[in-house]
Amino acid sequence: MGEVSTLLSTMRLVPVIVLDDAADAWPLAQALKAGGLPCAEVTLRTPAAEEALREMAKDADILLGAGTVLRPEQVDLAVKAGAKFIVTPGYSAAVVERCRSVGVPIIPGVATPTEVQQALEAGVDTVKFFPAESIGGARALAAIAAPFGDMRFVPTGGITAANVGDYLALPSVLAAGGSWMAGRDLVRAGRFEEITRLTSEAVAIVGAAS
Ligand code: 3PG
Repeated sequence: MGEVSTLLSTMRLVPVIVLDDAADAWPLAQALKAGGLPCAEVTLRTPAAEEALREMAKDADILLGAGTVLRPEQVDLAVKAGAKFIVTPGYSAAVVERCRSVGVPIIPGVATPTEVQQALEAGVDTVKFFPAESIGGARALAAIAAPFGDMRFVPTGGITAANVGDYLALPSVLAAGGSWMAGRDLVRAGRFEEITRLTSEAVAIVGAAS
């Protein structure tokens, strides 16, 4: 994971983004930056995602990732569009392999000890614990992480300002992901000031947790 891991360990938050209109990508990136969080995981869930990655990649200050990567060919597309790391919702050996051959850091999704072990075997050092709140929250993550020593986790799914501190308090957690500071509806409505406000609030929680 290298430099991406270092940056994530400093920021400790990964805003998960769903963009319906690529024209929102630049103002959204600036809103996140203004809130103190120069990072975005743009999910490949919408037709606008590829163009949105290209737009955000124009700002070299943003640590840019692509999420919801389901197939190996999407790794190539995302990297070409400017993604510096790849996130998947579940564990795909084919996607992990493609990331390795392209040389891009990968954070594959896991929900069970078996999947963590698969990730370990593949030489992965950081996994996404997804969907975190639905599969038992911080308590479940602490129990699942316990046998795996150095494996780092990025819990995501149902995380909000109210519970993010519980995850960040766990030594195995590199960073927490979520859409709460830059929700799809806020972006659609062009409420970038509100996104900056929620982002600053999240950054303040990180400050208090560390
Ligand atoms: C993801 O893709 O990581 C999740 O959909 C984000 O989960 P959240 O919207 O519950 O934060």
